[in-house]
Parts: sequence; C-alpha cells; structure tokens
Amino acid sequence: MSKPLALQLCPFSPMLEEGLAQLFEVTRWFELDDAARSDMLGSRADEVRAIVTGGHIGCPPELMKALPQLGIIAINGVGYDKVDLAEARTRGVRVTTTPDVLTFDVADLAVGLVIDLLRGITLADRHVREGLWLTGERPLMQRVTGRRFGVVGLGRIGRATADRLTVFGPVRYNGPSKKEAPFDYEPDLLSLAEWADVLVVTCQSNDTTRGLIGGRILSALGPDGYLVNVARGSVVDEPALIEAVTTGAIAGAALDVFADEPRVPQALIDCGRVVLTPHIASATAECRRSMAELVLSNLRAFLAGEPLPSPVA
Ligand code: 8YV
Repeated sequence: MSKPLALQLCPFSPMLEEGLAQLFEVTRWFELDDAARSDMLGSRADEVRAIVTGGHIGCPPELMKALPQLGIIAINGVGYDKVDLAEARTRGVRVTTTPDVLTFDVADLAVGLVIDLLRGITLADRHVREGLWLTGERPLMQRVTGRRFGVVGLGRIGRATADRLTVFGPVRYNGPSKKEAPFDYEPDLLSLAEWADVLVVTCQSNDTTRGLIGGRILSALGPDGYLVNVARGSVVDEPALIEAVTTGAIAGAALDVFADEPRVPQALIDCGRVVLTPHIASATAECRRSMAELVLSNLRAFLAGEPLPSPVA
C-alpha cells in the first residue's frame, strides 16, 4: 500500500527523518524552488496529509490553504506562533507541538547566557584565541550571584529558568496572571524591568507579546541592566534593542532568537555588548531525540485515528 504524502518544511535530525520516511512519502519542500513547488501543488496538492515543520518555521498560511486534504501540522518545537491556529481549526487541521521535552534544555541555555553576559565568557574566549592575553588582561566583569532576575512569562520554560536562577539571586516574574510559584509576581512589566538587573524573556510569541520588550522597557532596565531572549525574536522590538545596546542605554543582551532568522542585523553582530547564539536552546542530542519521538508519536496517532499525544489544535 502506498504511503500518505507529507511535506517537510525544514531539515531535521537523521532520527526524525528516518522515522518520517517509515510513515510517509516525504517531499522535502524546503529544497524545492518556486517552480518545483508550484508543479508539486499543481499535480499532488490533494494527496498531502501532513506537514512536518519547525517551531521557527511554522506553516505559511497560503500553503495550508493550498492543501485540501491536509490533516495535521506536526511542529518539531514548542512554539506555534507561525501557524494560524484559527485557520487550522476552521479547516479541521490538527496541530501538534513538543512541549515538556525541551523545557530544561531551553532553561539551561537561558542561564548559560546570563552567566556569559555578566562574566564575559565568549569575550574571554576571543581574548585568548586572538592572542590578546599576551598583551594584557581582560577588563573586570560583573558578579552573577546576588543579581535580581526578572522572568517574562512563567510558563514551563520560564518556571524552569526561574528555578535555576533562584540559586543566584531573587527572582520575580511578569505575565498575564499570577501563578502558583515561589517567586514574587510583578503584574507591571515596566516595574519588573526597573527592579531587575537581568530580564530573561521566556514567554510565548502571540498578539499580546509582539514587541513587548520595547524602548520603554529597555530604558527601565537601564544602563546596568541586561536582557536575555530565548523566546522569539518578535517579542523584542529589535530596532529598539539595537538602539539601547549600541548607545549603552542597557549594559548588554544575549539573544538566541531574532526577528528574521537566520539573518542577524549587522549592528548586533558588530556590538561587543551582545552575545549571539543561532537559535540553539533546544539543540542538544537528548532533547532533539525526545522531540523527534514526540513528533513521530503524534503522526502515528494521527494516521491511526487515535488521540494525539500533544495537540494545540
Ligand atoms: C527549535 C523552537 O529550534 O521549540 C521551539 O519552538 O523554536 C526550537 O525548539 C525548532 O523548532 C527546531 O525545529
């Protein structure tokens, strides 16, 4: 019996790609040029049952609309900000993500970025590699222990990040509502930014959080304050951040996510006060293996007509 057709929108680990190939005839959509894409849609659009994609890619709305038999969008990630859930529901398209399995890895990276920002680990690494140690020592950096940490969004990742940061200093959090948690809730983001030495962004990207961290919040964070973003680039007003970090309105920023990935503004690349990582928060072998297993479990359940393990729509 022939396998159902799936579109793969970005590269995945060999384990996930092998698992997909057992379940589907897979078209590597991301490798097709525009002409090949329209040929494919012209001849086989009504055969496509599944889209498999990354959280950072999602599914373009016009692609969802072009596939009348699409039944599921399986996201290899926890963010579903790039999938129109309302449109998916209207079309009866199920959407799944990979929650929980990546929580600790993302929180670990957030803490790593906090330490790197204050202690200058990547700057010190460059100092050694570029032979500068022979000519002198690095300037002194900042102590991590005793800092005040503001977490923006106390979901699963925010909570795990706060749990880790509490070892270093007091933690407060902001979000739409107070949570059952051993940290002080600060309902006003501006007040949290004024209080915090380091603001760590872990919230979802949605209509209410888009551009949430703008010029006013960054000014409140102040010239001794630092920003860490492991959520989505869209949550931070990137031009305002560039302005703040290049003028010294904030002390520095560590960013794993950007507005237009994988393109990173040159102003950030050129700025010595910024630590940049290429969206690697969930990129450990263990995490990606668990994510792959969950993507495949969702797809198997979909094909078998069984309840989906981790649906969001
Ligand atoms: C991944 C992510 O980088 O979980 C998410 O939403 O953005 C990341 O974990 C990405 O989805 C990998 O495909």
